[in-house]
Amino acid sequence: MGTQAFNAAGPPQGTKAPSGGSDPHAVGERAGTGSFIEFRDVWLAYNDELFAAGQFAVEAIDLQVNEGEFIAIVGPSGCGKYTFIKLATGLRMPSRGRILIDRQPVTGPLKISGMAFQAPSLLPWRTTVDNVLLPLEIVEPYRSNFKAKRKEYEERARQLLQKVGLAGYEDKFPWQLSGGMQQRASICRALIHQPKMLLLDEPFGALDAFTREELWCILRDLWMEQKFNVILVTHDLRESAFLADTVYVMSKSPGRFVVRREIDLPRPRELEITYSKEFTDIVLELRSHIGAIRKTTQAPA
Ligand SMILES: Nc1ncnc2c1ncn2[C@@H]1O[C@H](COP(=O)(O)OP(=O)(O)OP(=O)(O)O)[C@@H](O)[C@H]1O
Ligand SMILES: [Mg+2]
Repeated sequence: MGTQAFNAAGPPQGTKAPSGGSDPHAVGERAGTGSFIEFRDVWLAYNDELFAAGQFAVEAIDLQVNEGEFIAIVGPSGCGKYTFIKLATGLRMPSRGRILIDRQPVTGPLKISGMAFQAPSLLPWRTTVDNVLLPLEIVEPYRSNFKAKRKEYEERARQLLQKVGLAGYEDKFPWQLSGGMQQRASICRALIHQPKMLLLDEPFGALDAFTREELWCILRDLWMEQKFNVILVTHDLRESAFLADTVYVMSKSPGRFVVRREIDLPRPRELEITYSKEFTDIVLELRSHIGAIRKTTQAPA
């Protein structure tokens, strides 16, 4: 049924000082599989003391994601979902293991990624279009030619805003927009530099159910058109099943990937599918995995 339980291996034997980052040259020893995202036995402790004490935020992550694949990650609070995002974008280096993105070892923050969070965090003194343009003013190579290419970039931002239903709101300020509109703008901001990988941490968590479903469809359409990789962190199992190709369930902290569920629903998916038996069966199955995880009591440290 496309469900796979991950092998829950024990903690690594012995502790040694964190490498402080992977040696990029060592990766060549084992050729990449050609996956777009590849985690090889990745562990992260947030600092040396935690590492020495064997306290990891995430453990033994092995993962291979195809180019253009949409994955969702679900799991209890504090299990390490955002930690996984930080690892996948190079904001944190693993204490153990290797990470390859787009077949390259990750050695620092990646420019090929865009991110959006639960709070849209738009700058109130900039118009919507100027908020969307912000990454191009900061990130190279756009930054150097921003003045010369401003017109072209602005046109791109306006087109993107139109695509997500914000035509007519481009020159308004964030405080003149509803929460759902602000979140659309923040997704545009994450996509303006045409990233190969989009990371979303609970992007629709603060929205009402109807607005949330509207934004699912907007994200679905953008993804179907541009086929960037998506890592969506969510607490909403329906959201994960509607949008993703594959859903990963994480265990309680320390976070491990314990279940991999392929969502074999045909595409394009319309909202009606969420009322089908097939769909509710998947959601129930995911719910039962989460329920099982929540029941397990953690051994005292
Ligand atoms: N900078 C940090 N230093 C030390 N520990 C951290 C740091 N950031 C996160 N942690 C710890 O790592 C664990 C995982 O945190 P993370 O933010 O990844 O969880 P999460 O799954 O995103 O949680 P939530 O669902 O509540 O957002 C938690 O135990 C947290 O306390
Ligand atoms: Mg989080």
